[in-house]
Amino acid sequence: MKFLQFSVLPFLIVILSLNGATLAHPYGDFLHCLSLRISNSSTISKVIYTQNNPSYSSVLNASIQNTRFSTPTTPKPYAIITPRKTSHVQSTIYCSKNHGFQLRIRSGGHDVEGVSYVSQVPFVILDLVNFQAVKVDTKNEVVWVQSGATTGELYYGIASKTQTLGFPAGICHTIGIGGHLSGGGFGILGRKYGLAADHIIDAKLIDANGRILNRKSMGEDLFWAIRGGGGNTFGVVLAWKIKLVPVPPVVTVFTVNKNLEQNATKIFHRWQYIAHKLPNDLFTAVWIMKVNSSQVGKKTVQAGFRGMFLGGVDELIPLIQHEFPELGLAKENCTQMSWVQSILYFGGLPIQPVEILLNRNALPRSSLKAKTDFVKEPIPETGIEGFMNMFLEEEADFAITMIEAFGGKMDEIQENELPYPHRAGILFESTYIVQWTNEEDAGTYINWIRRLYSYMASYVSKSPREAYYNYKDLDLGTNNVNGYTSYEQASVWGLKYFKNNFKRLVQIKTMIDPMNLFRNEQSVPPLWSP
Ligand code: FDA
Repeated sequence: MKFLQFSVLPFLIVILSLNGATLAHPYGDFLHCLSLRISNSSTISKVIYTQNNPSYSSVLNASIQNTRFSTPTTPKPYAIITPRKTSHVQSTIYCSKNHGFQLRIRSGGHDVEGVSYVSQVPFVILDLVNFQAVKVDTKNEVVWVQSGATTGELYYGIASKTQTLGFPAGICHTIGIGGHLSGGGFGILGRKYGLAADHIIDAKLIDANGRILNRKSMGEDLFWAIRGGGGNTFGVVLAWKIKLVPVPPVVTVFTVNKNLEQNATKIFHRWQYIAHKLPNDLFTAVWIMKVNSSQVGKKTVQAGFRGMFLGGVDELIPLIQHEFPELGLAKENCTQMSWVQSILYFGGLPIQPVEILLNRNALPRSSLKAKTDFVKEPIPETGIEGFMNMFLEEEADFAITMIEAFGGKMDEIQENELPYPHRAGILFESTYIVQWTNEEDAGTYINWIRRLYSYMASYVSKSPREAYYNYKDLDLGTNNVNGYTSYEQASVWGLKYFKNNFKRLVQIKTMIDPMNLFRNEQSVPPLWSP
């Protein structure tokens, strides 16, 4: 080994200079370590992107979904590592551990707080963009999907082999599998089948010691933790084995828009009593946003009632007319299509060609702040009125609240089955999102969503006020940037995301990564100071 290090050193100096870094830089040791371990010069240039590399910015920005975290003042990584092999991941872990660089793991880059690619301390990004394989096995109804694939690539991969199997994960097709599955994953099949994480049957993980683990070798505790306990806490998950679920060849989707003048408040109020009790085959959601009113120059608030039924329109219409006549659903509001097209429909995209699912840039990117709530009791009409009226404010021009019905399968799964605890008794989840175009005004918009969140406090889950980890909200509390974070401190946000499962997550973290190599603002801390 000594001989190897000695003999390749001059060659490495050239490589590091070529990539825009020299050994004199503070991160020189890290790069030196990594280059030594990768050793092949043409591979190094495809795997390590330092700040002076001409491709650095495009590699960094390629998957940043929240442009709030791609401004000139956003802290940037010293290097972006895009591994091509498992050994590159192991080497990155080894070198960041030995040279004190924080590691941020990125799959699809949709973290709403930018946690996968921003840090306040010196850091490098481990970007799994080259781990995109989707291997569908229809005979056994399973898929091995790598973390760097998107949900769209997964959905497309399944649909190109079969029309009668699907997978219950999120609506947006550009989300990365790595972050999505490790945080739960709720979508339009959620009432029928639960979360994406409920259907993971194996995984390939690299831990802080560089060991390659699968379900058997990691053990059931760690396997439990990575299915909803959050990414960048326990290790790097390279791939997941998931079990597919049956879907009919034809599903029916619908949208009925009602604004304030068309009784939106009353209909939404009624929806709360019905949506979670509907047959599991029917998922409904309400999207609240500001729209133009029929009176020229005036604005109103719209509640868009959207649904997906695992069956034909002729069965759906009488069902809704019986259960929820107030909606006035008509055949012209409905479209029959395949399950995979329904993903595009919910994502607001044309339903064909379905190859759009493979386009990682099909959705506009924006600066945003998100927050979530879980609701267990119907909100009174007066409460809904106040909520809707807040959307008439100027700051809500580009705001949306996506309200998704729970019940069904979600009610049947125990709270401690997986780290994700928001199960029985939840009527619906609300995801509040505010967006803006001018970064200088960010504070105004963020204040608006904080006011909205504070307004909702009396109507939503309490003790704790539950929140969905996959829409991280750093307002809930963060770990210390430097130094140890105690269990009590982390519990402030940890109990909101994971309820009583947080304690078990902390124990598992203490066991698997006691030195807290894998950490971020809201990673689960170990019990003791490393
Ligand atoms: P990203 O790469 O940013 O990672 C997110 C987190 O996971 C980070 O902490 C990161 O370090 C960690 N991580 C990523 N890959 C890892 C790996 N391989 N191993 C270990 N840790 C890893 N959610 C939902 O349930 N249903 C939905 O319909 C939607 N829709 C949606 C739309 C849009 C536009 C956005 C921005 C977000 C959503 N989400 C969602 C939330 C989404 O599930 C969540 O942001 C995921 O964490 C995104 O995963 P990415 O891999 O894209 O993020």
